[in-house]
Amino acid sequence: MSRTIVITGATGFIGSVLARRLASTDWQVRALVRPTSIHKQPNEIASEWITGDLEDMGSLRRLVGGAEAVVHCAGAVRGIHQVNFERTNVDGVARLVRAATEQHPKPRFLLISSLAAREPDLSYYAASKRKGEKVLASKSGGMPWVIFRPPVVYGPGDREMLPLFQWMHRGITPIIGSDKSRISLLYVEDLAEAIVYWLHRGKRSRCFYELHDGHTGGYMWQDVIDAVARLNGRPIYRAKIPVSFVKLVASLNLMAARVLGRAPMLTPGKVRELTHPNWVCDNTVLNSDTGWTPKVTLEEGLRRTLRQSDN
Ligand SMILES: NC(=O)c1ccc[n+]([C@@H]2O[C@H](COP(=O)([O-])OP(=O)(O)OC[C@H]3O[C@@H](n4cnc5c(N)ncnc54)[C@H](OP(=O)(O)O)[C@@H]3O)[C@@H](O)[C@H]2O)c1
Repeated sequence: MSRTIVITGATGFIGSVLARRLASTDWQVRALVRPTSIHKQPNEIASEWITGDLEDMGSLRRLVGGAEAVVHCAGAVRGIHQVNFERTNVDGVARLVRAATEQHPKPRFLLISSLAAREPDLSYYAASKRKGEKVLASKSGGMPWVIFRPPVVYGPGDREMLPLFQWMHRGITPIIGSDKSRISLLYVEDLAEAIVYWLHRGKRSRCFYELHDGHTGGYMWQDVIDAVARLNGRPIYRAKIPVSFVKLVASLNLMAARVLGRAPMLTPGKVRELTHPNWVCDNTVLNSDTGWTPKVTLEEGLRRTLRQSDN
């Protein structure tokens, strides 16, 4: 008999790639879809869709009923106010955890948090991801759980990093903050594969896993620029933008978003995240616990991402 795995966020960038990957295994995928996103539910990525919301306990109970595993990938990545992030990333986690812990037997639970949770003082987003982790840890009531803290995830379908990569592809890139800042990156299909490895081989519970694309020590932005330049076969012009100017633009953007009622990406909190000097993480523990190793190098990941955006 096939086993049921629940995925939230399957209409989003990471969740849709994960659901597609799981649909190719012997897991039966059951996914949550908000009524406003029904048009985004392709049949091939889940055998069953439950219409609902992280704010609606009834739909969450239907979602997790009889499931063997839950991967909670839904999250708010944009917002104006603290409450915009907390409603989804904290209260939403609490509700889903409650629904899961009511099950007999309880499913295994994987929360997709973020490396940003390591620095909760930087932004509402980072703080909400840390609080969501704490909610899971404190309310799990004996349910086995793990937390993944991915760094920046990129790939076809991503909306956050793509504009920057596209600028580089056109031959120009902004440089904000220090040249020495370092970040880890992860190609989206490698993240999905890591989750499959955890499902099949992960034995430990109550632990955090960091994961990246195998480039130990992370990248400086210049490494990313060089990789795109190699793909393009021509150099990329670097436009150094003062952080004070970007902060001003972010504040204006936030004010405009408040007036227009839109969820902005560039906010003062996002600028603090972008200019943080150290977003480097470590694969060692996940690798030794599950045997997962990433396959997609930066250059290959960028090639696939930019090829898709050219089409
Ligand atoms: N992208 C990255 O670089 C990155 C890095 C580290 C961690 N993460 C984490 O990975 C997760 C997915 O990120 P993503 O980049 O794939 O974001 P995304 O493309 O914006 O997708 C977010 C998903 O969450 C769903 N969602 C949001 N609020 C919901 C609610 N109240 N009820 C039910 N579903 C809700 C969205 O549904 P709709 O389609 O209906 O909007 C969508 O399916 C997030 O938790 C994020 O914090 C992302």
